[in-house]
Amino acid sequence: MKKLSARRRHPLAAVVVLLLALAATGGLYAAFAPASKAQADDTAQSLAIEEGKKLYSVGCASCHGTGGQGTTDGPQLVGVGSAAVDFQVGTGRMPAQQPGAQVPKKKVIYSQAEIDQLAAYVASLGAGPVVPTKSDVSPEGADVAKGGDLFRTNCAQCHNFTGKGGALTNGKYAPDLNGVDPKHIYEAMLTGPQSMPSFPDSTMPNKQKRDIIAYIKTVNSSEAQTPGGLSLGGLGPVSEGLFGWIFGLGGLIAVAIWVAAHTAKAKKS
Ligand code: HEC
Ligand code: HEC
Repeated sequence: MKKLSARRRHPLAAVVVLLLALAATGGLYAAFAPASKAQADDTAQSLAIEEGKKLYSVGCASCHGTGGQGTTDGPQLVGVGSAAVDFQVGTGRMPAQQPGAQVPKKKVIYSQAEIDQLAAYVASLGAGPVVPTKSDVSPEGADVAKGGDLFRTNCAQCHNFTGKGGALTNGKYAPDLNGVDPKHIYEAMLTGPQSMPSFPDSTMPNKQKRDIIAYIKTVNSSEAQTPGGLSLGGLGPVSEGLFGWIFGLGGLIAVAIWVAAHTAKAKKS
């Protein structure tokens, strides 16, 4: 007892107690402090995947398989990426209702938060194209004329010159692009839904995709709606040529017949 109290009065005792107290506080803080930002993100991500998995089992697994491996009713989803899910569900194509040549767009039945969760789950099955960010699809600094060139070379054969869409073989069709969200246009290019080819960033860099989006938005804006009257389908030389043939040439023929009829009359008299 005497020894202990002697030690307590040791000049270093106060320092030791202080150090121990500090260590204990630090340890307690580390144990109970809120998780760091990175950890919080990780937890949010795994929560999203967890929720997405639940939504998936109810709405998608019957056609795409319990682990996204695909069934006879729907293709495999391993590796299609979050962009494919955001596009398919965000445009109302998925969940599909009945088999057919092409799954049509319908009313979107999931909220954007649920779509994000579904996308997180499918992306966790295998890496694939990622949903573009706001700046990825921003029209800022995009070149509309360049976009027009790119659109005519890469897209017009199916979607028509101004993106009005058109029929393809076997009952399939390329949809009208008017009014489609820039994010979904970007995702369509990234993932190539159905019979559309995909245009990954390696072959069509971000800037070119933004140029194309700017072109689609410009030719379909209300100011661009054919100030001269009929748009003739925006087909350009083809429909305008046809118009010329029918009305122009037709008119010429009518005049020729009129002239001929009058010359004949003139000869008779
Ligand atoms: C009735 C069956 C059915 C249901 C239910 C269904 N799908 Fe699909 N899904 C299909 C078919 C069929 C295709 C192929 C579409 C096509 O070729 O037009 C497809 C295509 C997809 C694609 C595109 C794959 C690719 O290769 O780009 C994604 C992504 C997708 N589905 C996600 C989902 C999600 C998420 C759900 C649930 C919300 C869902 N699907 C529900 C049948 C279904
Ligand atoms: C070989 C024909 C073909 C080409 C080339 C093509 N597409 Fe498509 N595109 C399609 C088809 C078919 C669909 C419909 C897919 C579906 O419904 O699942 C489609 C769908 C889309 C959609 C979705 C529209 C909507 O209503 O949700 C966009 C956006 C799109 N294409 C943009 C483009 C762009 C931009 C290009 C050029 C870079 C392009 N496409 C090239 C055939 C094509």
